[in-house]
Amino acid sequence: MEKKIAVLPGDGIGKEIVQGAIEVLQTIAERFNHEFTFTYGEIGGAAYDAAGVPLPEATISLCKESDAILLGAVGGPKYDTLPVHLRPEQGLLQIRKELNLFANLRPTTYYESLADSSPLRKDIIEGVDLLMVRELTGGIYFGQPRERKVVDGKEAVVDTLYYEKAEMERVIRKAFELASARGKKVTSIDKANVLESSRVWRETAIEISKEFPEITLEHMLVDNAAMQLVRNPRQFDVVVTENMFGDILSDEASVLTGSLGMLSSASLSENGPFLYEPAHGSAPDIAGKNIANPLATMLSAAMMLRISFGLEKEAESIENAINEVLNAGYRTGDLMAEGKKSVSTTEMTAQVKSAILAGK
Ligand code: IPM
Ligand code: MN
Repeated sequence: MEKKIAVLPGDGIGKEIVQGAIEVLQTIAERFNHEFTFTYGEIGGAAYDAAGVPLPEATISLCKESDAILLGAVGGPKYDTLPVHLRPEQGLLQIRKELNLFANLRPTTYYESLADSSPLRKDIIEGVDLLMVRELTGGIYFGQPRERKVVDGKEAVVDTLYYEKAEMERVIRKAFELASARGKKVTSIDKANVLESSRVWRETAIEISKEFPEITLEHMLVDNAAMQLVRNPRQFDVVVTENMFGDILSDEASVLTGSLGMLSSASLSENGPFLYEPAHGSAPDIAGKNIANPLATMLSAAMMLRISFGLEKEAESIENAINEVLNAGYRTGDLMAEGKKSVSTTEMTAQVKSAILAGK
């Protein structure tokens, strides 16, 4: 199979972790006889430095011409004083909007070998397998107006939470479709006791659920969900929620199984191309030190193989290799626990590559 992959490393640890994932994809190509070509583009602070904007036109065209997109991370303290529209995060928000990537999938899976790295007790996290589906192109992230102003002589500020019903329908439908192939349960998270948008979200979830009679729909208020995630995370299968709630809850969900450094993600549109990125940030404090955890990016690359290219056994090959390497005790700093072998980003990458080549 021949595929063209756009690579947007971005800022901070972005370059290091993306490099790890590309080497892993090249190893897969070698082992399973595929041809992946990688074309680099700029996004975030790196794009601002090179082109004066966080998302240059050239990057948008590159993405649209590619079969899939692999992204690292954006942001850094260097850009904190820039006006909002030039900040690195805008690059990420704009690419999501440009490509209409409305459904962001963030899986949390239990790794036996990482039980010691989780802040929670093993009996709580054992067997967790949940998929968070976060709405990614609407809500308070994008609503207008968003501005500071003076009202009756008082300093004030507005952000707008705006959703079209169709935007709710398509992401909720996606969650139900995903649940059909999994545990057949959808938990829809909202704040329907306070927000009108959440009341419409809840009604929409009920309507969509009628298309999927075999799937159980449950509603949960977001504050309760935050608590349930650490109290009894095994109760969840597919979770679907709006943009901001999903942002917050997915960070929380990620540490259930060790570290944010393990949380992969796929962002889907109706027709592609889809974008794959780790859910963590650019970690400027550890950038360039060769200590970042590349596994979330590699797991995102595995999602690319499975979802965009339909290469199931290749995806599993990456996942199995990562499992083996963790079982063998190799850990980057974020996952380090007593008695384990501390490795750098490049050593971790080398371990995963050789596990792929040695794999069945
Ligand atoms: C994420 C990130 C982004 C978000 C930031 C960097 C804009 O936190 O992908 O979760 O809030 O969506
Ligand atoms: Mn986030």
